[in-house]
Amino acid sequence: MRLLFLGDVVGRPGRHVITDRLPQLRERWRLDCVVINGENAAGGFGLTEAICEELLQAGADAVTLGNHSFDQREALVFIARQSRLVRPANYPPGTPGRGSTVVDVPGGRKALVVNAMGRLFMEPLDDPFRAVQGALAAHRLGAGGGVQAVLVDIHAEASSEKMAMAHSFDGRASLVIGTHTHVPSGDYRILEGGTAYMTDAGMCGDYDSVIGMQKGPASLRFWKKVPGEKLAPAEGPASLSGLFVETDDATGLALRLAPVRLGGKLSQAMPDF
Ligand SMILES: [Fe+2]
Ligand SMILES: [Fe+2]
Repeated sequence: MRLLFLGDVVGRPGRHVITDRLPQLRERWRLDCVVINGENAAGGFGLTEAICEELLQAGADAVTLGNHSFDQREALVFIARQSRLVRPANYPPGTPGRGSTVVDVPGGRKALVVNAMGRLFMEPLDDPFRAVQGALAAHRLGAGGGVQAVLVDIHAEASSEKMAMAHSFDGRASLVIGTHTHVPSGDYRILEGGTAYMTDAGMCGDYDSVIGMQKGPASLRFWKKVPGEKLAPAEGPASLSGLFVETDDATGLALRLAPVRLGGKLSQAMPDF
């Protein structure tokens, strides 16, 4: 299976780079399954139903979230009816929405998408490790199992927590990938057990910014500890950032991978296979 995961979409520039490029990339790279983290897609804060539709229309099979899941209050309502929108599985019981979903992939295949949020340097939530374990327990990976691919988005600040998550489920997921820092990491690789891993997918947004937000007001927050201007997404051209992974349908594990950085101010990278 040919998978593409794209990191946090920040505001309109992030959405534009996706609607602009993803439809052609789906064709050109013969993508079977695309997952996008959309937690910052609405002006940097959460996402609306219309924006969720826009990402799905552009070619996403599922959209994941994070600490900004419910910044747009309408998400509390529409998340219940949008089965391809996934919020962290370790929110307390009773939180609207779902922590994992199964999407149909061409060829009668299926992919499980799981989202969890870290606890280090973040708001307290339930245990993300046991939450992911629970989500994976119901599905067996591989040709004879229920799903041919498993993608885990671990939305966390600390690289240690993301690595620990990946090693915990090495061999049981096709991909464990980090989101939330908005900076692509250079440690993408296939782990010993066959799981593709990258500490952070980076963001789909304007990198001439402070993690996607306008650099002036965002920098000032560190200089003056008083309420400043409201933060808004930087408006320059966005880079599309994430990871491309090819998996073996027989095992559901990764065969090869390549970082993706297209457009905007980042050095460019794309798969050559
Ligand atoms: Fe984010
Ligand atoms: Fe986040």
